[in-house]
Amino acid sequence: MTKLATYEIDIVKSKTTKIDKFDFENLAFGRTFTDHMFVCDYEDGTWQQPKILPYQPMMMDPSARVFHYAQAIFEGMKAYKDDDGNAWLFRPEDNFNRFNKSAERLAMPALPKDYFFDGLLTLLRMDHAWIQPGIGNSLYIRPFMIATESAISAAPSNSYRFMIICSPAKAYYTGKVRVTFAEKYSRSANGGVGFAKAAGNYAAQFYPTALAQAKGFQQVVWTDASTHEYLEEAGTMNVFFRVNDTLLTAPISDRILDGITRKSILKLAEDNNIKVDVRRVKVSEIKEAARNGELKEIFGAGTAAVISPISAFEHSEEVFELPEIEGSYASMFKTKILNIQHNVSEDPNGWRFGI
Ligand SMILES: Cc1ncc(COP(=O)(O)O)c(C=O)c1O
Repeated sequence: MTKLATYEIDIVKSKTTKIDKFDFENLAFGRTFTDHMFVCDYEDGTWQQPKILPYQPMMMDPSARVFHYAQAIFEGMKAYKDDDGNAWLFRPEDNFNRFNKSAERLAMPALPKDYFFDGLLTLLRMDHAWIQPGIGNSLYIRPFMIATESAISAAPSNSYRFMIICSPAKAYYTGKVRVTFAEKYSRSANGGVGFAKAAGNYAAQFYPTALAQAKGFQQVVWTDASTHEYLEEAGTMNVFFRVNDTLLTAPISDRILDGITRKSILKLAEDNNIKVDVRRVKVSEIKEAARNGELKEIFGAGTAAVISPISAFEHSEEVFELPEIEGSYASMFKTKILNIQHNVSEDPNGWRFGI
């Protein structure tokens, strides 16, 4: 049971800012961080004094459990700025709830909601200037938690550190993405941790993704671990298939991350009378639809890129190129979501959250 301490955040302001030297036009994703970071340790069954400190390296014992047993989880979210200088988040409660689901699965303590939101909002208000206006610009926010106890025995840690760091971002992927459908390797399995944003889920994908990249495919679309017959999700994106005018996507399960972009697309599709079929999607039916011209689009959906159109897929050494189409669902959803995020359009579902 998580005990709550009443608190005010201790704040140490950075004496300098890096922002003047930062080139927002030519930025490499996730390589530069804002001036501050949020830190809160969990010890003796209690969340300790939360702090905002100048962004800096930290010291850890080499035996800290995170290095040995990968008790590490994270979230990915973004802040946006409109042309009047107001800053916004998109469905942040969903990130908070998913964070605690991940924590539970990894035997880590739940984070109290006020620690998450007070920390996040105070940090973002301090580093406000790093959120650039303009569609496509954003501040990527990375909340994460690691096991800090010094002990190399395979057991859950008794101490943890929760942190939030932020990095300016433009669109994550550039251009269209070519993918391969997994036939040998798997991302997750029944009863596993696929639904959690567990750091190890990502480490396990690097090797098979590198093999795919060597063959000219940037991403792997993972299939179910037991048969490899059903399409599940990509490395950091849920995946949608448009067959004629129907949108297909796999249902959420304990193998698949409950993506916030995915949920938003499903709602927008409903609001715009686009037919959606949330069901298991067979590799063979997508190949068949590609052959007979019924497969109109495939796209990935996730916070980093919002929507990534997929231009080709490979399976069993056969490559299927998807033709360019006018009026794609991918670009329609992308525009709608970006316009909500940047306060350009109405927000009938109440997804925008003012900072
Ligand atoms: C494995 C995986 N699937 C899907 C997504 C998309 O989720 P969201 O739309 O919440 O960013 C992500 C990114 O967070 C991811 O890491």
